[in-house]
Amino acid sequence: MKTFVLAVFALGLAACAQQAPAPLQGEALVARGDYLVNNIGGCNDCHTPMTPQGPDMTHALQGSPLMFAPTVQIPWAPVAPAIAGGPAGYTDEQFVAFLQTGVRPDGSHPLPPMPAFRFNEEDARAVAAYIATLPGETPQP
Ligand code: HEC
Repeated sequence: MKTFVLAVFALGLAACAQQAPAPLQGEALVARGDYLVNNIGGCNDCHTPMTPQGPDMTHALQGSPLMFAPTVQIPWAPVAPAIAGGPAGYTDEQFVAFLQTGVRPDGSHPLPPMPAFRFNEEDARAVAAYIATLPGETPQP
């Protein structure tokens, strides 16, 4: 009986191990990135030209002056650059690393109000894969 219980337990463990989700790829990865960029990350609030009706999605992530300014004296960047197609000067891997650390490839930190995102690796890959599909490609190194 004891052996039987142990065997059932082991089978249960094996079944659980098989349920680990496979890494997202292709269209599923891009769809995850679409969700993260357009519903979670707020990237369009700064990187897409703003209109009274909201971000102009016909120019999604093509860069924009910010629609707000700090109320205290801090170093800040008044323009969010174009990142559609991928940020200028980044390889794909560098963009993925940036999304996981908030640090540029040269070790510098973007000025506020750019958030220092800490996406996990899969989500960082998803965001980069989705942004790579947007028109307005910027030159890669
Ligand atoms: C609150 C406004 C804001 C939001 C939200 C925002 N950004 Fe930014 N982002 C900026 C600003 C401003 C800069 C420019 C910083 C600088 O010049 O130092 C910037 C810089 C960047 C850069 C660096 C480009 C370079 O020159 O190295 C990347 C890449 C980037 N943003 C991607 C994103 C992504 C992807 C999202 C969403 C997941 C996002 N940003 C959300 C404001 C924002």
